[in-house]
Amino acid sequence: MKSILLPLVFLFQFSSILLISSAYTLPDKYFINCGSDTDINSVNRVFTGDLNSGSVSFTKQGSSQVLDSNQVAGQASTTIYQTARVFRQRSLYEFQITNTSTTYLVRLHFFAFPSTTNLSMAVFDVSTSEFSLLRNFTFRNSTNAPTTKEFLFNITSGKFDIYFVPQVSSFAFVNAIEVFPAPESFIPDTALHITSSGSNGNYYKEIVSKVLYTIHRINVGGLTLAEENDTLWRNWVPDDSYLYNSNTAKNGTSYTGKLNYMGRVNEYTAPDFVYRTSKQMNIVDGSQSNNFNITWNFRVSKNTSHFIRVHFCDTVSPSLNVLTFNLFIAGKFRKEIKTYDEGNYQLAAPFYFDFVVDSDDSGILNISVGPNAKSDLENTAFLNGLEIMEIMEKSVSEAPVINNGTKKGLVLVLVVSVLGGLVFIGVLAVFIFFGRKKYRKTNPGEPLDSWSALPVFGGGSTHSRVTKKSVNGSNSLNLGLKVPFGEIQLATKNFDSKLVIGKGGFGTVYKGIFRNGVKVAVKRSQPGSGQGLSEFQTEIMVLSKIHNRHLVSLIGYCDERSEMILVYEFMEKGTLKDHLYDSKFPCLSWKQRLEICVGAARGLQYLHKGSDVGIIHRDIKPTNILLDENLVAKVADFGLSRSGPPDHDQTHVSTAVKGTFGYLDPEYFKTQHLTEKSDVYSFGVVLLEVLCARPAIDPSLPRDQVNLADWGKLCKNKGCLEDIVDPLIKDQINPNSLKKFAETFEKCLQEDSSDRPTMGDVLWDLEYALQLQQSPTKREPHEDSTTDASDVLTLPNVRRVPSLSESIVVEDSVLNSDSLNISESEVFSQLRIANAR
Ligand SMILES: *[C@@H]1O[C@H](CO)[C@@H](O)[C@H](O)[C@H]1NC(C)=O
Ligand SMILES: *[C@@H]1O[C@H](CO)[C@@H](O)[C@H](O)[C@H]1NC(C)=O
Ligand SMILES: *[C@@H]1O[C@H](CO)[C@@H](O)[C@H](O)[C@H]1NC(C)=O
Ligand SMILES: *[C@@H]1O[C@H](CO)[C@@H](O)[C@H](O)[C@H]1NC(C)=O
Ligand SMILES: *[C@@H]1O[C@H](CO)[C@@H](O)[C@H](O)[C@H]1NC(C)=O
Ligand SMILES: *[C@@H]1O[C@H](CO)[C@@H](O)[C@H](O)[C@H]1NC(C)=O
Ligand SMILES: *[C@@H]1O[C@H](CO)[C@@H](O)[C@H](O)[C@H]1NC(C)=O
Ligand SMILES: *[C@@H]1O[C@H](CO)[C@@H](O)[C@H](O)[C@H]1NC(C)=O
Ligand SMILES: *[C@@H]1O[C@H](CO)[C@@H](O)[C@H](O)[C@H]1NC(C)=O
Ligand SMILES: *[C@@H]1O[C@H](CO)[C@@H](O)[C@H](O)[C@H]1NC(C)=O
Repeated sequence: MKSILLPLVFLFQFSSILLISSAYTLPDKYFINCGSDTDINSVNRVFTGDLNSGSVSFTKQGSSQVLDSNQVAGQASTTIYQTARVFRQRSLYEFQITNTSTTYLVRLHFFAFPSTTNLSMAVFDVSTSEFSLLRNFTFRNSTNAPTTKEFLFNITSGKFDIYFVPQVSSFAFVNAIEVFPAPESFIPDTALHITSSGSNGNYYKEIVSKVLYTIHRINVGGLTLAEENDTLWRNWVPDDSYLYNSNTAKNGTSYTGKLNYMGRVNEYTAPDFVYRTSKQMNIVDGSQSNNFNITWNFRVSKNTSHFIRVHFCDTVSPSLNVLTFNLFIAGKFRKEIKTYDEGNYQLAAPFYFDFVVDSDDSGILNISVGPNAKSDLENTAFLNGLEIMEIMEKSVSEAPVINNGTKKGLVLVLVVSVLGGLVFIGVLAVFIFFGRKKYRKTNPGEPLDSWSALPVFGGGSTHSRVTKKSVNGSNSLNLGLKVPFGEIQLATKNFDSKLVIGKGGFGTVYKGIFRNGVKVAVKRSQPGSGQGLSEFQTEIMVLSKIHNRHLVSLIGYCDERSEMILVYEFMEKGTLKDHLYDSKFPCLSWKQRLEICVGAARGLQYLHKGSDVGIIHRDIKPTNILLDENLVAKVADFGLSRSGPPDHDQTHVSTAVKGTFGYLDPEYFKTQHLTEKSDVYSFGVVLLEVLCARPAIDPSLPRDQVNLADWGKLCKNKGCLEDIVDPLIKDQINPNSLKKFAETFEKCLQEDSSDRPTMGDVLWDLEYALQLQQSPTKREPHEDSTTDASDVLTLPNVRRVPSLSESIVVEDSVLNSDSLNISESEVFSQLRIANAR
């Protein structure tokens, strides 16, 4: 690479400056050309194609798709804006950082070029593990031009992660990424702080430890400067559109002489162009009326601190030591600018001032320059450049989860983009049919790798080494999910007993609210007890690997001191158990109960088949099925779960049988041989419980009725099931729906696990039972108005055709587990865990 760069350095217009600057050399990494195998040379740096498995030490995680605007035309890309990487789920780029505790410039380039995927439709968040950088970012309303977002980071750790998180049912993309060290002392430790009450001493926090987000970079009195005109590839725009009154200012004549760089100012502070041009007071010749200011208005974030750098260079004064004027910031602060002193007793010497300015809730920040009334010297004022950066606060609770395990979404995404619309449905059916056949032949416990092995739609599998590595059992906890103990104390008001929403052997569950307003459930083990460490680790490991609309999301964890704390999304409506037994909740209708069962079955099916490893929950019961505000069911509590290929006996013969009595698979109890069919058994008990609204074990009943599973099967066989149905819903149940439902739980409760269906089959049966309940003849008027999230995806006319029915199950789970659910956790709903284990 050096051999390419060397000649360029001499062509480059700053070559003369580069030669005299020894303190800082322009970095050669990281410049990433996303979604491309082409290295793009762009102004003295090379953007490495991220498909190239070269020596560059960055990695990408999460499935994604590559878009190339030239793919059809078959041309090679010449700019970074011709390719993009598209993310349908939370994904990250990870950079190895060599110079830690150094300020880095981080730039993200976006351009919604025309392609098979309409990039304008993307809505997404970008964050690091501690800072939320862009929220609900979209191009829907913006002009069709490349956009660059720039951030300044003091990166302190050896790894730097940038997460791309699509919003619900949308996607994310990026065209190029720059991450490189800035010159030393680029950002000061502190600066004068200007608050609503004026100047207030120095800013109390270290600016260098914050993230700065560039919102305005102005070349006052000059032209637009693009990356090729700047020493650090920055963009500068002219000031004219920010002038409050354009009559007050005129462009100074552009200075062409030598600039006298002094002290902390060098060519990297700002390019020459910025200091050569300026705006000055527009004083009409012969008029004495120079009693006015030049004011610029800038749109900024409300009630937020901003880092501001104001650039000057006196190319205006006719002679030495004649000019003094005022700089006003936000109308509250005045600084007298003595250009001769600041310029170290020379003219044409660039200098700048830094401030931290708190914006008010007008969202406008004013900067003015005006004559110094006291001065009887030359009466003018000028400005050369201005930079405004928002100071971003940490937002820890946003730490994103990466879904490592899924490849199916990628395949589907490609199908969609290649074939589009109607063709998609037909192809999907065929595709699923074959996929399903394949799936049936393979061992039930095997991960569904066959999905990713279909090359027909391929060319896009971009799974990184990291993904594979972590699937193959790297046991390290996901550090991106760590939440400081202090944040948790704050969120739970220091574990206020009023916020307790559940208690059990493991500890206590609190409701919490993070500073950004996100509601969470905080599960804290007894401090210092040391119990349940392996459950704690299992849960973090399992939940950070998987993500599904029907599985409760882990937002973070804390293992500081001797704490074991898990932070989940908050589920507004509590547990399924509460809804079955607690009279303070309204009675669930049969349709609602079926929908909850379908949701939980989806979650379980995803657990078994959707992730690469295959996970067995081991503790399915109504307390572990939670409901969000729309009564959407989510499976929770993965502390006992097991992952790994379930057919390797030795890994699944556990010494201690774990689970909850009444839901425990009798075969597992006897043989201690754990398979996912044990979950199917437990789920069968849950189905019966939902139907009858009585506990799995009720010792107060006659002996043959104590165990619900046995009693339910008996009643089903005797044909008197109606007698044990929850009397509150007895009249609503469509007999056909009940029949299908009864067959389903009976199959689940088979003694021999090989006779039990898979969760996929259970899911289909339940959906069918729901369909029968909803069939027009029996539909109740109030049900037409209830919104049903799952309806969005159903294809009723296809569904009733028996031969296709199984494939639809797969389709639902695929769409759910990948394209939809990934971003679901953005909609943080509430979680309540009542008396879990
Ligand atoms: C980064 O580290 C390298 C090697 O230690 C050093 O040569 C270089 O000057 C550093 N760059 C910055 C910007 O600190
Ligand atoms: C970055 O932050 C660390 C810790 O806050 C500090 O020690 C270091 O000096 C900072 N780096 C720079 C370049 O200011
Ligand atoms: C992002 O947009 C979604 C949907 O429009 C909205 O619910 C959410 O509150 C927005 N988030 C932020 C941080 O603005
Ligand atoms: C892409 O989406 C944008 C925003 O919804 C829309 O205005 C535009 O027409 C779409 N373009 C194409 C080619 O569909
Ligand atoms: C786009 O602009 C329209 C009208 O100005 C507005 O209603 C809509 O919310 C905007 N959409 C986005 C995604 O910002
Ligand atoms: C910026 O660079 C471009 C390309 O070299 C050049 O055409 C343009 O004049 C430069 N702008 C300024 C203000 O010099
Ligand atoms: C100043 O110069 C810029 C760039 O040449 C030009 O666009 C702008 O109109 C000028 N403004 C004034 C007030 O002359
Ligand atoms: C210039 O602006 C400052 C701050 O808004 C104000 O105090 C001052 O009176 C203004 N000067 C003139 C001459 O208008
Ligand atoms: C900004 O702060 C003021 C005063 O503290 C408050 O009244 C206002 O609601 C805040 N505005 C925003 C957008 O937070
Ligand atoms: C900014 O300046 C304009 C014009 O001078 C004035 O109307 C406005 O009130 C000022 N806003 C603030 C927040 O100072």
